[in-house]
Amino acid sequence: MSNALLEVRALNAWYGESHVLHGVDLDIREGETVTLLGRNGAGKTTTLRAIMGILRRREGAIRLRGRDLLALPLHRVAQTGLGYVPEERGIFASLSVEENLALPPKVADGGMSIEEIYHLFPNLYERRHSQGTKLSGGEQQMLAIARILRTGASLILLDEPTEGLAPVIVQRIGDVLVALKERGMTILLVEQNFRFARKVADRFYLMEDGRMVNSFPGNELDSHMDELHSVLGV
Ligand SMILES: Nc1ncnc2c1ncn2[C@@H]1O[C@H](COP(=O)(O)OP(=O)(O)OP(=O)(O)O)[C@@H](O)[C@H]1O
Ligand SMILES: [Mg+2]
Repeated sequence: MSNALLEVRALNAWYGESHVLHGVDLDIREGETVTLLGRNGAGKTTTLRAIMGILRRREGAIRLRGRDLLALPLHRVAQTGLGYVPEERGIFASLSVEENLALPPKVADGGMSIEEIYHLFPNLYERRHSQGTKLSGGEQQMLAIARILRTGASLILLDEPTEGLAPVIVQRIGDVLVALKERGMTILLVEQNFRFARKVADRFYLMEDGRMVNSFPGNELDSHMDELHSVLGV
């Protein structure tokens, strides 16, 4: 695929001596929502960390709009418009919602204003004076996403945003992703919940033991159920 916004080629990555990613290929086009599925330990988080450059021992190619990310120091990667919402969310627990939203640095034009954030996440508006520690898991997840939307990032990497959340909150996060898609955001979503992901995914990638084992369009999910059950162990 030549017109990819993000292009990952033959990516290998290691934690110390431990070789975790084995030749990962991944393409994301502008405006696309791509979902990465795989069981625990498959290498999903590692893929995101390797793209962001948090994991430094990498070989292969990672290109954003044709620009080589492998060569960039970590602090320059976010400035390319790549936003990362880690599994552990990374909000400031001792600060209020509003303070958390005021702090993120601008990396590109087009970041959402605090007003736009409150429009997209009404519950964050209601909780704007609450400290991070007082938020529910769902509110923390929304705040973590909102912080990245403040920066102007145009490609966001989301690591299991629905993990451990109640169905009604999962639904709410799904609505937010649909709204972001409509605004033209490009999204790489890591999920184990493919029933959730099917609402937003234009394409799925299936990962097993540090390798991409398949990729197919979102509307073909049903015809891949047997494979999904076997790869995901569900
Ligand atoms: N900091 C680390 N040091 C060494 N090995 C690690 C480290 N983090 C993860 N690994 C190993 O790398 C492999 C891939 O882990 P990774 O966290 O990418 O999986 P994952 O697909 O995100 O799983 P999960 O669904 O549980 O989040 C696993 O074998 C894991 O044990
Ligand atoms: Mg993970």
